[in-house]
Amino acid sequence: MPVQRPAPGDLSPIETASRDEITALQLARMQATLQHAYDHVPHYRKSFDAKGVKPGDLRQLSDLAKFPFTVKTDLRDNYPFGMFAVPREQVARIHASSGTTGKPTVVGYTRQDIDTWAELVARSIRAAGGRPGDMIHVAYGYGLFTGGLGAHYGAERAGCTVIPMSGGQTEKQVQLIRDFKPSLIMVTPSYMQVIIEEFTRQGLDARDSALKVGIFGAEPWTEAMRHDIEAKAGLDAVDIYGLSEVMGPGVASECIESKDGPVIWEDHFYPEIVDPETGELVPDGEEGELVFTSLTKEAMPIVRYRTRDLTRLLPPTSRAFRRMGKIVGRSDDMMIIRGVNVFPTQVEEIVLAHQQLSGLYQLHVSRDGLLDQVEVHCELQPAAGRINEADRSAIAQWVQHRVKTLVGISTQVRVFDPDSIERTQTGKARRVVDTRLR
Ligand code: DLL
Repeated sequence: MPVQRPAPGDLSPIETASRDEITALQLARMQATLQHAYDHVPHYRKSFDAKGVKPGDLRQLSDLAKFPFTVKTDLRDNYPFGMFAVPREQVARIHASSGTTGKPTVVGYTRQDIDTWAELVARSIRAAGGRPGDMIHVAYGYGLFTGGLGAHYGAERAGCTVIPMSGGQTEKQVQLIRDFKPSLIMVTPSYMQVIIEEFTRQGLDARDSALKVGIFGAEPWTEAMRHDIEAKAGLDAVDIYGLSEVMGPGVASECIESKDGPVIWEDHFYPEIVDPETGELVPDGEEGELVFTSLTKEAMPIVRYRTRDLTRLLPPTSRAFRRMGKIVGRSDDMMIIRGVNVFPTQVEEIVLAHQQLSGLYQLHVSRDGLLDQVEVHCELQPAAGRINEADRSAIAQWVQHRVKTLVGISTQVRVFDPDSIERTQTGKARRVVDTRLR
């Protein structure tokens, strides 16, 4: 199905459609997707048959609940190209993401899929206020990760001037931001913090750059982090969501006027929220695991993909599409520490609340005999200057106390010098180092 191409700067027609028009489009596209998957991907034929469902059983959107879920291991089991629904020669691009174990997860796109993706990232950029002629600095990693190329094609489609900087080389990032004067930046929020710090380290103020908007995603981040980045970089920070199995960046993206949660581009992706334990659907507004079905993908249609991301669906506001709340964490990110469920984002809010700490942190979990031990590693702001041991331990105690009272677990807190917490190649921060299972 061809994508509607708006004149850059305009809303695409579907963005002004009514809810009824959207659901009618979703139903037709979902029926076609299920048929396409069943006919061309042996995995889906097997899993549908095992559940006793046929594509024709979907008569209304709610019938989707009868269909089986797809999980990450299904993609791994069909490594590398077993989930593709078109002959390999029609696959124009491959991306892959490596997890913590084993083989990478491989995804493929036809030319049409790449075109749809570019259009949806362009739509996301426009929702963030980007307009033709604006300059965009892309600091998501280029390569097998979908962040860099996804952002890049979208920025071009939106009619912008793109700086394909990719991740890393923080000094150079700062130099190009100062010299080229882009007004938008696309990067992970944790790497944006690193860039801001580099400004400070050079005796500069990031608020003096020309950047007006940051389009941040690829990892969970809190409202506290949004405020911190906005204050330190003097820009508007909006949230872009996506995952490679479903497409890449631009599955959902926030509108700059309201900043009230990413708008799900529901003409291309159908969201559901399920109870992560039972897999039962939960009503809109309640928290659970986000599940996506692609509605237009050709090379790799995906049916009821369990994202592991925890959030809720919110009612439409500016467009008739539903929105999603901020991702509170991933169900596989959740740690159970002495029986208490803990998400790294809970600790993030506390670390960010301390003026002398940079927002970077890491949780180190180990087991001492039968007891789980948690160390919170955080680091000083470069601007904090040299501080004495007493001040350092006062900061540690402050964090420890807040974590105890707000999260409910006892921790050891270590406050390191600036620039001590690891910076990753992809730009996605590694928040948890859990050695209990080794
Ligand atoms: O991270 C795609 C992407 C690139 C999205 C650039 C946004 C910007 P993956 O590497 O497959 O794809 O990782 C997907 O990252 O399941 C979430 O857990 C997390 N994630 C992505 N965006 C957000 C966000 C890309 N805005 C996984 N908030 C997803 C929270 C996010 N978590």
